[in-house]
Amino acid sequence: MTELVTIHRLADAEQDLSRAAEILRDGGLVVFPTETVYGLGGDARRDASAKKIYAAKGRPSDNPLIIHVATPEDAEPYAFTCDLYYKLARAFLPGPLTIILPKKDTIPLSTTGGLDTVAVRCPSHPVAHRLLEKCGFPVAAPSANRSGSPSPTCAAHALADLDGKVDLIIDGGDCEIGLESTIVKIDGDSLTLLRPGAITPDALSLVCPTVKIADAVLGQLKEGEKVLSPGMKYKHYAPSSPLVLLDGAPDAVLRFLQSEQATKECAILCYDEEIPLLKQKHLFPVGVKEDLAAHGKTLFHALREADATGVEVIYAHLPPKEGLGLALYNRMIRAAAHTVRTIDN
Ligand code: TXA
Ligand code: MG
Repeated sequence: MTELVTIHRLADAEQDLSRAAEILRDGGLVVFPTETVYGLGGDARRDASAKKIYAAKGRPSDNPLIIHVATPEDAEPYAFTCDLYYKLARAFLPGPLTIILPKKDTIPLSTTGGLDTVAVRCPSHPVAHRLLEKCGFPVAAPSANRSGSPSPTCAAHALADLDGKVDLIIDGGDCEIGLESTIVKIDGDSLTLLRPGAITPDALSLVCPTVKIADAVLGQLKEGEKVLSPGMKYKHYAPSSPLVLLDGAPDAVLRFLQSEQATKECAILCYDEEIPLLKQKHLFPVGVKEDLAAHGKTLFHALREADATGVEVIYAHLPPKEGLGLALYNRMIRAAAHTVRTIDN
């Protein structure tokens, strides 16, 4: 049985969070909110918890888990830290950045999918932070979705995917960012960006001048190509209706959408300003065009809803690759299996 608790005010949540920490300490699974997406937590020190997480998610066990700790220093017993780790921590933690470091033996290989590195994250969400403080041990947590569905940005998504498979779901409202954390790997004095997120390459380069972007962030991996982050090689969320990303002048794209609506059943992830110009059926607004943060916050929710309509095709705008756009681009291009249609006139 999965129990659901809702937290409105952190001050009233002490008992619930103590109990959640107890469940984790006893080897159970707890879904908790973070500023990025909901996490499916288990004790990162226990083999058995990692196995339970993989089973609940339906995830291959060579895809490593991120460990969550309350403060950057709390990673010390589990990872070999360095100056650059603390520089990044001072600039961005707690917050939506995950840092990959060489692991210590205190973290089992089942948690890291057999790798000798470990991904460390300190979430800024007050509920996640307080829960981690109460635990005092690292909590391994992938996104709280079934493998192959979009990351959950509210408790209802996690419940839909994991009901009966976890002990407790903590509802802390909608996630502020809505896209998973930025992941970087430290290589000496330089950083490699493995997954783009709300901490952008420009922001990272203020702390570390050399930020390489892993090929898999933008491109399609070639058959048999070695990946730096195992998660990149798995098929990602793909809606059951094909998702097509539209590129081109805004007027031309709008005319295309209007004509498509006239001839077929389609769902559209549209900009707010397009709402009055389109038929009011299967429209999923993602915020005004310029507001990339709003798109990030609504993307996974909109994709889940658009997918549930069962239409022939889902259309969305191709996001820019700059700034926060890079994270959107990375998620959307995978969901669309790289299908981009350029509208010329
Ligand atoms: O925002 C987030 O990061 C959320 C919240 C819950 O913290 N977590 C999350 O976890 O997105 P997950 O498991 O869905 O995605 C983590 C990604 C995976 O693609 C995994 O392959 C990669 O991080 N990863 C984990 N440990 C790694 C390591 N040691 N080396 C390379 N990649 C790693
Ligand atoms: Mg995930």
